[in-house]
Amino acid sequence: MIPRQFGWFWLLLLVIGCSAGEELDALKTPRYGAGKHAGAAYCGTCHPHIFQQWKDFSRHSVAMSTPGFDELLDLTTGNPILNLLIGKDGCYSCHGSEAAGAGVDCETCHGPAPQGVEIMEAHRTHYTPRRRLVMTLPDFCSRCHELQPLLSTYSDWKNSGVSERCQDCHMPVTETGKRFHGFQTLVRNPGLYDGDIVVSDIVMRFPVLQMTVVNRVRGHAIPAGGPTRVLALEVTLIDPDGAESVRRVETFAKFAKLFPFVGVLPTALERDTRLGASEARNVTFEFPERMRHEILGVRVLLRFYEVPEQAKGDIEKARWVSAPVFDQTVMF
Ligand code: HEC
Ligand code: HEC
Ligand code: HEC
Ligand code: HEC
Ligand code: HEC
Repeated sequence: MIPRQFGWFWLLLLVIGCSAGEELDALKTPRYGAGKHAGAAYCGTCHPHIFQQWKDFSRHSVAMSTPGFDELLDLTTGNPILNLLIGKDGCYSCHGSEAAGAGVDCETCHGPAPQGVEIMEAHRTHYTPRRRLVMTLPDFCSRCHELQPLLSTYSDWKNSGVSERCQDCHMPVTETGKRFHGFQTLVRNPGLYDGDIVVSDIVMRFPVLQMTVVNRVRGHAIPAGGPTRVLALEVTLIDPDGAESVRRVETFAKFAKLFPFVGVLPTALERDTRLGASEARNVTFEFPERMRHEILGVRVLLRFYEVPEQAKGDIEKARWVSAPVFDQTVMF
């Protein structure tokens, strides 16, 4: 099931970074592979494993067919100003070829199969090892995976200083000897962050409950993806009856200053509470004296939420929540 998500946020984001005409033109320019495509299913006749990975696991295969995309696209084209500034071209430039209508497919990244040319001939001129070399650079991903100030996946990776490229981690070589094309994503692989984000040293020294949230993902700040994704640390106290009582929440996300009018837009983030790459952050909660003998233990939970940007990181207004990436009960 694909969650509904997104909102004004993206829109604003887009307009922000791009108030200059030149930048707007750049925004609307297809990053790769515009025009007609033979289609992923066709490529899949000879590349069945790669096709199946792309289709079953990757968000690239649904990049123009999620309810969230439809909704935001309608909003953009339905608003005269936004339609002029961004229009649908400003979305399809990264979300795949409109003419092909199938998200970020094989030919978006590898280039469209030339028309009227036999396919194995096309492999001698187009799908060559030499051409693939360009695709092995991290910059290849960054044309779509960076849009300041809201989308900073590429610069976060760069600042983290890890030596692996995007492809080393996200496209490992599989048992077929070929690069994995499932481009792991939390939405389609619920167990993705198991063991990658953990909470350690959960200690109660009344009135302070303290713990350390550790991001073991070396290449990224977490949440790694779009600005509507929020990581929440949920702490629920266990009282003498063994029941879960008081709940406290700490969120990790980007928060942008939003203005209600199109044209008066934020140019920066208001707050960035994401966990840095490899960061271990101490988090504390304080409780009133009257609770001194009421706290027997605590349940600590980490989950990702998809929050429409108007909600500004408020997980109560989330449209989707992931399975727990960390869930532990500690008795004191
Ligand atoms: C043509 C633009 C484009 C290129 C090139 C591209 N991506 Fe993407 N990618 C997208 C879009 C758009 C989405 C979001 C799709 C959606 O969720 O609707 C996405 C989603 C993803 C996701 C899942 C994100 C999530 O939050 O679920 C990962 C991981 C990813 N891409 C990795 C990569 C890597 C690594 C590369 C380089 C090898 C790459 N992408 C190249 C456009 C692109
Ligand atoms: C008739 C069978 C056939 C079809 C259809 C086909 N391919 Fe291939 N392709 C091959 C063979 C065979 C190879 C070489 C062995 C390998 O890498 O799997 C290859 C290799 C490749 C490579 C790797 C080139 C390199 O760097 O070594 C790419 C990229 C590629 N194909 C893309 C595509 C795309 C995109 C499509 C759809 C437009 C497509 N192929 C359709 C048979 C096919
Ligand atoms: C988001 C971009 C993207 C999409 C979509 C994509 N590829 Fe690739 N593909 C790459 C990159 C990048 C590499 C090279 C990775 C490397 O060697 O570091 C690659 C490598 C390949 C190779 C060579 C694999 C190997 O390890 O020898 C083949 C074959 C291929 N792709 C076929 C396909 C087919 C078929 C599809 C569609 C089902 C597809 N690709 C979709 C980015 C993409
Ligand atoms: C050192 C390995 C590493 C490198 C390098 C790396 N990533 Fe990641 N990335 C991860 C891990 C680990 C995650 C967390 C999910 C997982 O376990 O796959 C992740 C998450 C993501 C996500 C969010 C997925 C989701 O659903 O939450 C995106 C998008 C992404 N990476 C894109 C990129 C891009 C683009 C690059 C290159 C600029 C890159 N990554 C470089 C390891 C890496
Ligand atoms: C610079 C390239 C770029 C542009 C331009 C862009 N997007 Fe995206 N979009 C992405 C990437 C990359 C992701 C995945 C973010 C992640 O999780 O890392 C994404 C994610 C999304 C999502 C959340 C996932 C989903 O499908 O529910 C929506 C909705 C979305 N984009 C809609 C749009 C719309 C509508 C436009 C045009 C107004 C647009 N985008 C323009 C690159 C772009």
